[in-house]
Amino acid sequence: MTIQLESIQNIDQLYDRAFSILEEQKNNGAKTFGLATGGTMLPLYERIRKSTIDFSNCKSVNLDEYVGLPKEHSQSYISFMKKQLFDTKPFEVSYLPNGEAEKPEEEAARYENVLKSLDLDFQLLGLGENGHIGFNEPGTSFRSETHVVTLTDSTKRANARFFNSIDEVPTQAITMGIGSIMRAHQILLIAVGEKKRAAIQALMNGDMTEDIPVTVLKEHDNVIVLTDLIV
Ligand code: F6R
Repeated sequence: MTIQLESIQNIDQLYDRAFSILEEQKNNGAKTFGLATGGTMLPLYERIRKSTIDFSNCKSVNLDEYVGLPKEHSQSYISFMKKQLFDTKPFEVSYLPNGEAEKPEEEAARYENVLKSLDLDFQLLGLGENGHIGFNEPGTSFRSETHVVTLTDSTKRANARFFNSIDEVPTQAITMGIGSIMRAHQILLIAVGEKKRAAIQALMNGDMTEDIPVTVLKEHDNVIVLTDLIV
């Protein structure tokens, strides 16, 4: 297991460190970046927006997208990415699953083919309270590829804060699989706040189990975990 755990209690310093890891990857020649959405990423994307870093010769792929939410909806992940990053820091090309596809399963297969045609240098990950990575909920096979998921109640409750009510949270999403994520050469996982403690503890001190998807990272050769928690 080669997880490099960096526990940084000062949140500004934590995100400065996250930015410097990304910058170092870019300076070392990384060309394809796997990106994430969610509240955890906001301070990092803010730093990127304010920096001079240039991704115009790089490609990006996002982890996931809600099924059935119009692209223009403020909470679609394509809207999130445009607002938080792409409008200010465009990539040469940016891929996201199409949540409006008529046949989500076919869209998932198409997206997996896109991923396989790329060499993913770097993947940014947030962490679900239940240990999910991407939208790979507990019980997902470690070998899974991009697929359609039904979101758990835990995830819907956690994401309800972005919508007017929990009933507006989409019930399904398309997500990169755990196997797809594990193909990335370098992974940076950011976990901030007490709600992430159980999952981080499972990763650092527990056994690998599909019941807690993030524990798959124990099997990856290059993982950095940035957290404000002391584990
Ligand atoms: C988002 C994603 C999710 C989030 C996770 C944490 O693209 O794939 O795994 O990273 O749900 O969300 P926040 O950061 O809102 O706590």
